Amino acid sequence: MRDGDMGYPGSTPYVESFAAFAAARWGWRVDPADVTPVQSVILGYVDALVELTDLGGAVIVNPPVYPPFFSYLRQAGREIAEAPLTADLRLDLDAIERAMQQATTGGRRAAYLLCNPHNPGGTVHTRAELESVAALAARYGVGVVSDEIHAPIVLEGSRFTPYLDVDPTGLALHAASKAWNLAAMPAALLVGGPGSAALASFRAGKHHGPGHLGAIAQEAAYAHGGDWLDGMLAGLDRNRFLVRDLVAAHLPGVTHTVPEGTYLTWLGFGTMLGEDPAAVLLEKGRVALNRGLDFGTGGEGHARLNIATSPAILEEAVRRIASVLPQQ
Ligand SMILES: Cc1ncc(COP(=O)(O)O)c(C=O)c1O
Repeated sequence: MRDGDMGYPGSTPYVESFAAFAAARWGWRVDPADVTPVQSVILGYVDALVELTDLGGAVIVNPPVYPPFFSYLRQAGREIAEAPLTADLRLDLDAIERAMQQATTGGRRAAYLLCNPHNPGGTVHTRAELESVAALAARYGVGVVSDEIHAPIVLEGSRFTPYLDVDPTGLALHAASKAWNLAAMPAALLVGGPGSAALASFRAGKHHGPGHLGAIAQEAAYAHGGDWLDGMLAGLDRNRFLVRDLVAAHLPGVTHTVPEGTYLTWLGFGTMLGEDPAAVLLEKGRVALNRGLDFGTGGEGHARLNIATSPAILEEAVRRIASVLPQQ
């Protein structure tokens, strides 16, 4: 900024630092030639899915899921086909198969937007689950785009599997913006398998890339942020069990699954606070959670709690939630 270097990105080794991080953290060999910087993860997956489908075509998603999996794609003229997660927030392969079968009837082109790890709830899909997804995608000719923005945030006991490791015909999106809290400086990377046809067709279109500051910030995170990330993961590991214990002790009747990754836990209130618990919690408890209804089917009666904060704030948040629950 001092040098007035505020134009378009130049030679920032953003892609190379991501490739080095992917190899070191996940043992995933990414050829920088198979990576294209894009403006943000959302814009990257929307553009990629628009390439993989036709107007009116279906994109399959697994609700409850990150709300912008619905809105932007509908705006782009795509139909959203839901294949809900199971009750324990894992991929439901039968539901995915039914959705793929339906979405491709009559030879229509369809795509699948996977969230790996999954927001909300933090499920980290296993290699076996992803291999089953890849087999179904191949059977029905469905293009898979995997949003892997939360991949660096995988906690003790789970292991991130890059979707492209099981299906090189897919596309994946990565960014440093969640793990290092850099969303204020957006940038993302669209990754294809070796010689990816999907990446070539994306590159044939016109897409804006990230700004210079985003590329610099995210490059720095991948190249120099490993120790910071490990410290943050240790804090999240402590917080996820703290929340489990606080929920068990103070929120009777509330369901909760300990996240394997991400910092986004998913609380189920049943019918205790109506279909939109977050509204009641904000109004009566002065505690802000995300509204479950925005996450699609399965969101009713639920709210998302962000645990990327101090134990003291989590204790206070749970105390406020408890103050709103009906007395047992
Ligand atoms: C699953 C998922 N995808 C994408 C994003 C946003 O990515 P970006 O800001 O790069 O568009 C988020 C942010 O929370 C997210 O959780």
